[in-house]
Amino acid sequence: MLNTGEEKPLIGKRIGILGKGGSGKSTVAVLLTKALRDLGYHVCLLDADSTNVGLARALGFEQSPKTLLEYFGGMVFSGGSVTCPVDDPTPLPGADIYLDKIPPQFFVKKDEITLLTAGKIGELGPGAGCDGPVAKIARDFQILNEGEPVVTLVDFKAGFEDTARGAITNLDWAIVVVDPTLAAIQMASDMCDMVARLKAMELPATMHLESPELVALANRIFIEARINGVLSVLNKVQNIEIENYLRKELSARSIEPIGAIYEDPSMSITWLKGEPLAGREAEQEAQKIAKALETSEALVNEVEV
Ligand SMILES: Nc1ncnc2c1ncn2[C@@H]1O[C@H](COP(=O)(O)OP(=O)(O)O)[C@@H](O)[C@H]1O
Ligand SMILES: [Mg+2]
Repeated sequence: MLNTGEEKPLIGKRIGILGKGGSGKSTVAVLLTKALRDLGYHVCLLDADSTNVGLARALGFEQSPKTLLEYFGGMVFSGGSVTCPVDDPTPLPGADIYLDKIPPQFFVKKDEITLLTAGKIGELGPGAGCDGPVAKIARDFQILNEGEPVVTLVDFKAGFEDTARGAITNLDWAIVVVDPTLAAIQMASDMCDMVARLKAMELPATMHLESPELVALANRIFIEARINGVLSVLNKVQNIEIENYLRKELSARSIEPIGAIYEDPSMSITWLKGEPLAGREAEQEAQKIAKALETSEALVNEVEV
């Protein structure tokens, strides 16, 4: 239900969804997109994982949009203009954009949900593929508000690279998805540590950058990082014992999850068949997670006032 009159703490915010492979980043992204929409936001979901398949269908769209990599003219490897953030920290030109300035083939939109895709590298041919330019789009691309309560979610690729290389510097919140594995617990912990170091203004590695201007730019991106913090969501929880165990392990690392999504075989079947994602309990939990996000943002604003 739309209610745009109320004050909405997440308007203009960028929220990244990160975690280990298969932990459920895309599942959480779809559930949270719908939950935030139900709270009255226009949600732009950016698919920033070049290996994601089925996100459009999971959201109820017939087809995926053309990629933003194409919109920006392609990668430098194949003659385009999108560079890799590792060797070029300069901002992506034109990455701040109003939705109505983007040609319609580059997004799909329905019921206050807009899906955009950063890039898929399989089609570019031998030697041309690299996730770096996709990470650059993930870092810099932002839909601007146009009197609309827009919030952007970014569904990142698996692993820790985007976090370490600064693709998260342009996020307000990083949500790390934790499935019942030791690797996922470790990644949540590493991510909190990395964001703490960012907030402590630790400078990035820049030995590979040739000019002092690029070094200064890379430093500035990290120093000016807007990220408030890391939040975590449990996923694929099988039972209460597992939930309690995960909460205890995360709590020992000073991490308190803002939600727990249980394993639901009907959701894995919809992913398999390419059908719209549906699961009543998961959707209810996603509502709680969306509200917890709003509360976290409101708390940050209170502290800053
Ligand atoms: N809560 C859940 N219950 C059941 N299956 C799930 C759940 N979350 C994810 N899955 C399954 O795990 C697979 C990987 O999830 P996905 O969201 O694509 O992970 P990621 O984006 O992190 O790679 C999905 O295809 C789905 O089958
Ligand atoms: Mg995914």
